[in-house]
Amino acid sequence: VPFSHSKKYQTYHLRVYLPSHLHPPQSLKYYEDFAFRPDDIIIATYPKSGTTWMQEIVPLIVSGGDPASVETLPNWNRVPWLEVYNARNLNLEERPSPRVFATHFHYNMMPPGFFEVKPRVIYVMRNPKDVFTSSFHYYGITSFLVKPGSQSEFLHKFLDGKVMFGSWFDHVKSWLNAEDKQHIMYICYEEMIMDLKDSVARIAQFLEKPLDAEVVEKIADRCLFKNMKQNNMSNYSMVSCEFIDQTKSEFLRKGIAGDWKNQLTVAEVEHFDAVYKDKMKDVKYKFAWD
Ligand code: A3P
Repeated sequence: VPFSHSKKYQTYHLRVYLPSHLHPPQSLKYYEDFAFRPDDIIIATYPKSGTTWMQEIVPLIVSGGDPASVETLPNWNRVPWLEVYNARNLNLEERPSPRVFATHFHYNMMPPGFFEVKPRVIYVMRNPKDVFTSSFHYYGITSFLVKPGSQSEFLHKFLDGKVMFGSWFDHVKSWLNAEDKQHIMYICYEEMIMDLKDSVARIAQFLEKPLDAEVVEKIADRCLFKNMKQNNMSNYSMVSCEFIDQTKSEFLRKGIAGDWKNQLTVAEVEHFDAVYKDKMKDVKYKFAWD
């Protein structure tokens, strides 16, 4: 069991870059001591892999299709990130079960309570070339992240894990190598793109929340990119353009699989593939993008 005060855990923390204004020490301590409940649901992702999408889907499944929470609560309050600075002001201890949370932590960084209680986790993975593409645009519009630099500079940073939450490769491998996999559902962004209805039905099954076919259909329809883009509680339009300048590029930008083909040069793709092949050589998981 990783333990925060052990040397191993601290070393791991140090290798992962967390912007300190978004994740001040008091917030990490809050997460560290967080009392999980067995019926909590955790959405775990590497940034830009489909977090916001899941923050829409899971509350709709939990409410049996009732859109009240997705229509009235911004995604960051509806499904708060436990490591983000505002989490400790949200009175999460008072929320009724099942509570839904998000995290960008690697498996090895999860706090001790998580390993004791083993709440359900939905781990979303996305083709890292699309994660790179999405991140490159996102870093360019946010004032609270380091400027991405040129595409080739950012590509090196991304592949070396010198970006927020560290290496995509380490993140994915940490969750795929989790010890107790029975409480973790793995799903790819690309599966959701290919068949959203089927994905919603499978997530509902994993959460032991049986839904009628019409409800599944209604949820999937609401969560289509073009419909979610209209939801002001999920499209970040409530965040001032001083922090996220969506006049340059929207948060819900393209919502497709394979946009890397429009972004990366032939040489960049070759380099990416070589790094991927090396870093993922021991991974047996069959990803939807392969
Ligand atoms: P793009 O920048 O490629 O469009 P996260 O929420 O983890 O930060 O990920 C953001 C990415 O998920 C963005 O990718 C965003 O457009 C995409 N996304 C969000 N909602 C989506 C939806 N309903 N359908 C498809 N993609 C969605």
